[in-house]
Amino acid sequence: MAPREIITLPDKRLRLKSEPVKRIDASIRKLVDDLFETMYDAPGIGLAAIQIGVAKRIVTMDLSRKEEEHKPQVFINPEVIWTSEEKSKYEEGCLSIPDFYEEVERPAQVKVKYLDLEGHEHEIEASGLLATCLQHEIDHTNGVLFIDYISKLKRDRIIKKFAKAAKKVEA
Ligand code: NI
Repeated sequence: MAPREIITLPDKRLRLKSEPVKRIDASIRKLVDDLFETMYDAPGIGLAAIQIGVAKRIVTMDLSRKEEEHKPQVFINPEVIWTSEEKSKYEEGCLSIPDFYEEVERPAQVKVKYLDLEGHEHEIEASGLLATCLQHEIDHTNGVLFIDYISKLKRDRIIKKFAKAAKKVEA
């Protein structure tokens, strides 16, 4: 296991649509280990494989509180199959858009279909933080970022800021 580098805006790979996992083999298990390591190291509560530059539909998550034991969860080929009419708002952030937080409105409840590490199919109904987090991470597998839901003015401002910072690093 080794923490990997998290890619950030304006890296174009964040806009890629990730490929489904066809076979869960040793390389996929190794990738999942690296995702957890990277997520805990950051630290963050959720990470999609594309955030370490791997365009596969894999998401790791741990919503346990600091004082609790780790509760690692992995979702392979996750897919939202139902969303509630009811909405809820959370202040979201993203390891690929460091130090930027903004309130985002999303469906309050979702049903998600996914595979576990053994390849077994599961369906869960989520609400609260889990529902938001699942939608945020599944968005990553489709090349969608949480800033896509905020006002164009704010989005343009944050994209510009990151583009500028990246240029400075290059120079
Ligand atoms: Ni994110």
